[in-house]
Amino acid sequence: MRTDTPVTIHRGDYAPLPWTVEAVELRIELDPTATRVSSTLTCVRNPNVEAGPLRLFGESMELVELRIDGLVASTTRITHEHGGLLVQLDGDRAEVSIVTHVDPSSNTTLSGLYMSRGGYFTQCEAEGFRRITYFPDRPDVMSRYRVTITADREACPVLLSNGNLIDSGELDDGRHFAQWEDPFPKPSYLFALVAAKLVCLERKLETMSGREVLLQVWVEEGNLDRTEHAMDSLIRSLRWDEQAFGLELDLDRFMIVAVSDFNMGAMENKGLNIFNAKFVLARPDTATDVDYERIESVVAHEYFHNWTGNRVTCRDWFQLTLKEGLTVFRDQQFSADMLAEAAGEEGAASARAVKRIDDVKVLRTSQFAEDAGPMAHPIRPESYQEINNFYTATVYEKGAEVIRMLHTLLGHEGFRSGIDLYFSYHDGQAVTCDDFVDCMAEATGRDLEQFMLWYSQAGTPIVRANGKWLAGDGIYVLTLSQHLPPTPGQPEKAPQLIPVAVGLIDPDGMDMPLRFEGESHVGGTTRVLELGETEQTWRFVDLPSAPVPSLLRGFSAPVRLELDEDDECLAFRMANDSDPFNRWDAGQRYAERVVLSLAESHEHGKLLEVPAAFLNAVRSTLCDDSLDAAFRAQACALPGETYLLERMRPADPTSLRVAMQAVFAAMGAGLADVWLRTYHDMEVNGAYRYHPGDAGRRALRNLALRYLVAGGVSEGVSRAGTQFEYASNMTECFGALAALVMSGTNEGRDGLEVFYSRYRDDALVMDKWFALQVMAWRRDPSEEAPVLDRVASLLGHDAFSMSNPNKVYALLGSFFRGNPGEFHLPDGSGYAFWADRVIELDRANPQVASRMARTLENWRHFAPHLQDEIRSQLERVASTDGLSPDVSEIVGKALA
Ligand code: ARG
Ligand code: ZN
Repeated sequence: MRTDTPVTIHRGDYAPLPWTVEAVELRIELDPTATRVSSTLTCVRNPNVEAGPLRLFGESMELVELRIDGLVASTTRITHEHGGLLVQLDGDRAEVSIVTHVDPSSNTTLSGLYMSRGGYFTQCEAEGFRRITYFPDRPDVMSRYRVTITADREACPVLLSNGNLIDSGELDDGRHFAQWEDPFPKPSYLFALVAAKLVCLERKLETMSGREVLLQVWVEEGNLDRTEHAMDSLIRSLRWDEQAFGLELDLDRFMIVAVSDFNMGAMENKGLNIFNAKFVLARPDTATDVDYERIESVVAHEYFHNWTGNRVTCRDWFQLTLKEGLTVFRDQQFSADMLAEAAGEEGAASARAVKRIDDVKVLRTSQFAEDAGPMAHPIRPESYQEINNFYTATVYEKGAEVIRMLHTLLGHEGFRSGIDLYFSYHDGQAVTCDDFVDCMAEATGRDLEQFMLWYSQAGTPIVRANGKWLAGDGIYVLTLSQHLPPTPGQPEKAPQLIPVAVGLIDPDGMDMPLRFEGESHVGGTTRVLELGETEQTWRFVDLPSAPVPSLLRGFSAPVRLELDEDDECLAFRMANDSDPFNRWDAGQRYAERVVLSLAESHEHGKLLEVPAAFLNAVRSTLCDDSLDAAFRAQACALPGETYLLERMRPADPTSLRVAMQAVFAAMGAGLADVWLRTYHDMEVNGAYRYHPGDAGRRALRNLALRYLVAGGVSEGVSRAGTQFEYASNMTECFGALAALVMSGTNEGRDGLEVFYSRYRDDALVMDKWFALQVMAWRRDPSEEAPVLDRVASLLGHDAFSMSNPNKVYALLGSFFRGNPGEFHLPDGSGYAFWADRVIELDRANPQVASRMARTLENWRHFAPHLQDEIRSQLERVASTDGLSPDVSEIVGKALA
């Protein structure tokens, strides 16, 4: 049994440190097993704080020496505490010099200094710097850094750190050095170092004030032909931030480095962004349209952090959403602008809607699920055991929605003036979410006190809508009420301020001009209602006929909207809603209703029949040539199975899978003629280029194949086979293979082998290969656990590695999260396998283990027989010796 009780950190306990660090001089002598780190800290007493010792955090290192003002510190001045040190200092300033030894080759956590494919890399957010040297490793300690790196020239010809290169040269014994200086004070989590055998693509660019800057994308030599898209994305990001926010790159040099072993997506270290290789490398034959789009948005995200995160950073980690929510909002706006620009004036609105749909899908699938489980937390959490567990969909995606609501409530200009004020007050500081919202309030004169509840209350609000048509008066009365369900530690909640964008549609499908009772004139066709009380009523007047309401247009708030609409009404909005987001959403609601009712029929042993009216509604959407391809692909796709599983209570993955299969088959077979015609019409000719218009057409064609194969349409199977064989780009190649594999066809099985022999040496493409086959649906119901068996045997595959996070996410993450019908086997064998993997991973990499552990946190939503099986495995994990705080927090909360 584990003995150490987890330590909980509380937001309210924040206190500034008695000593901070003004400047850091680092010398890092790299060696695989014995890297020597010498650091000299210029420590300054904080005059506003009661006197106390210098607090140095430290983990997993050997302390070699500690000097104060040049003299070896006597042991009486040093107290050891939780692996860290408290050092007694006199006076107001002191120079503390520390030497540590670290072993990067055995650092499997990928936090701190570690090795990947012979090179050295760092990841310091959130608390990795304390694994390199003893330091007051908190974001409110901002220091200027000068860094000297020494390494073997042969093994590591390239030596990079933050800021500007100020010196470099040869040393004895085949070693060399480089010295870097970062002119901007920064918190330690933004420190970075790279020493490896790399090459780069470079561009010079003039910033808006006319300064010349050097941009570089560093990769392993064989990948140089996959860097162009990342570079283009970086340039577009730079230009966008200048134009949209007036924010300029503040350094002479900006570098992106790709690394194969990385826990998360990427990291915004000052001037030296380090990326998971999958968010950098792209070539038409190895990356899909979706990969291209993701790369553009992650490059943008990290670049935008340079202002929202680095120039103004977080006071403490409870404020994480200050930088993450805001930066996700910024990258979403950027991507929407890029898509709109590519689509041209006519297609811009639809292109923006497609992006919005993508973002909302992520939110509703991951974040709503988080809110409904044991890890539910406000975007600004009140407490945590392990901060790495709080890089969540709530902090990021819901955080971005909260910023978006501010943008909606204050208008674009108001929002922009708030941002300007934020930088004018807080540039160079470590601040809080309150500081940010205060700027928004001050710049616009708006009271945002109630709005702050979005920062402190957890959970997804439920907004219930009721409409009454007063035919005689031409008045439509809309009543909205809100309810925020209890979450762990928050049994009762206050009503929040919820912006609800509303339109009313007439029987011909046209938007009605909107006027509230008491208003002198019409105010447009979409109005934003501000729901701030438990229940409120609005009266729309002067209406010629009964309207169909279109609520929460553009998904104006991160809530669940409940509204009684019959099938005809949903079909009507699918065909007519002028708000493209809601048009899509109407179809999703309809599809959800169809799938979930089929799942219920299956549970009762009834025959499954997909309503013809639903198929007709999809047919109309598919045939509507006024809609662009990307939108049609979204609108004709079924809601994700993971999303639907959360909507089902109790969740029964087996009957959901049966229902999904039935709907896929009916949509494929029943609409075969239109799918085949669409497939033909949407062909994209010419060489591959990443362009949203082309991407939309490819997406729609691939969707057609998915349905046709699922529907057993032989012409569809042969089209997929041909596309797979002759595709000149990865989007088409993989799309065809996915259609064949997902339905469990023999062609799919053969295709996987061909794919493997083509791409076996390409790690990122192999990730796709692993992920696809473990997400496949069962074809033959007589087989017992075909996919679980395959996952288990793939663990031993040559191309697989438990120590590479991308491989783990591809194989295990895709299976646990992406294939509920095969993971949640009634005999519980999937869960035993899950527990074994979590325990195994935790010994090497707690962050990755914790992410896998989270895949069962909503176990209480499942049918009772599954709950029993899951509980015993959760308990087995929880009672494992030496469990990390990361996994311990997850399973502890799940079982609480
Ligand atoms: N700040 C990074 C980003 O948003 C994420 C880094 C998180 N890393 C971690 N180990 N918790 O892009
Ligand atoms: Zn971020």
